[in-house]
Amino acid sequence: MKILAIESSCDETACAVVEDGVNVLSNIVATQIAEHRLYGGVVPEIASRRHAESISQVVSKALADASCTLDDVDAIAVTYAPGLIGALLVGISFAKGLALSSGKPLIPVHHIAGHIAANYISHPDLEPPYLCLVVSGGHSHIVEVLDRTRYRVVGRTHDDAAGECFDKVARTLGYEYPGGKFIDKASKIGNANAFRFPHPKVDGCEYDFSFSGLKTAVINLVHNSVQKGTELVREDVAASFQRTVCEILVGKTMKAAEDLGYKTIALAGGVSANTGVRDALQSACDDRRLTLYMPELRYCGDNAAMIGCQGYFDYLAGKRADQSLNGIATLSLEKISE
Ligand code: KG4
Ligand code: ZN
Repeated sequence: MKILAIESSCDETACAVVEDGVNVLSNIVATQIAEHRLYGGVVPEIASRRHAESISQVVSKALADASCTLDDVDAIAVTYAPGLIGALLVGISFAKGLALSSGKPLIPVHHIAGHIAANYISHPDLEPPYLCLVVSGGHSHIVEVLDRTRYRVVGRTHDDAAGECFDKVARTLGYEYPGGKFIDKASKIGNANAFRFPHPKVDGCEYDFSFSGLKTAVINLVHNSVQKGTELVREDVAASFQRTVCEILVGKTMKAAEDLGYKTIALAGGVSANTGVRDALQSACDDRRLTLYMPELRYCGDNAAMIGCQGYFDYLAGKRADQSLNGIATLSLEKISE
């Protein structure tokens, strides 16, 4: 079964053709990052306009790369939540148009479910149940993946998402938006033991995260050094910060795995591209004889192949949308598991 998938929830206009969930026939991602970089973050109005300008070409290219026409496709999948509402609506409207004109079924896909599904593309042997650490620009969750379409969120952030924290710290250190990958790069040459940053205390669930205290600690360190005129090696700050994030993410995930009895762990979301997070999680899993699955780097960030993959499993589970499908800015994984 071939699915044409569309993703436009943030600043990438993406389309893919995916066969039987895991066979990616094409995967086109048109990024708008260069333009948003001028403003230090994603400008929702610009994102919607750029999606509207490029979606038609992106979809045509995805079909051409897969040597397909719309006739060869069996269903249309589209990200409908969560995300920037204006951005989501561009993909949804285009997908609805394709479904209406072709008479093919329309499958609504949750963006975070898509990030988790990126693991099935890279590792078709991965079978739920497993525990997934989801870390992206907008979300930080520890999720029990009960089956391919049902989830229980056991940990979540009380403030910033991990990626958001990476980007804000990067900005303070003078790196371009989105700065996560520059922190990653700097960490390879910096001294990760140069600074001690706090592990924030979180009230409530012990698997929950809080990154705003860590972010503030780094910002204060940088501002104090500017005021005092002392020199700070930014690679050392980056490496010490990244080490702290890794300790927090890995510590909570391992605790949840132990308490809940999971032997299989997965990683997902844009921050899953981070070398430090990948290495730290891998060695923690090796120490405990847990099996870890991580997406290939090309499926870590936003893309439509992951939406086509999840769309396939959603299709098998009977999920369909009609022409009344709307975008939803905030929607938990648990809501779609009811
Ligand atoms: O999943 P994603 O592409 O978009 C959302 O759904 O939010 O995640 C984007 C986030 C950004 O914050 C970006 O800085 C971060 O992922 N990111 C990284 C790395 N590559 C991307 N963070 C740390 N290290 C990286 N190598
Ligand atoms: Zn994402």
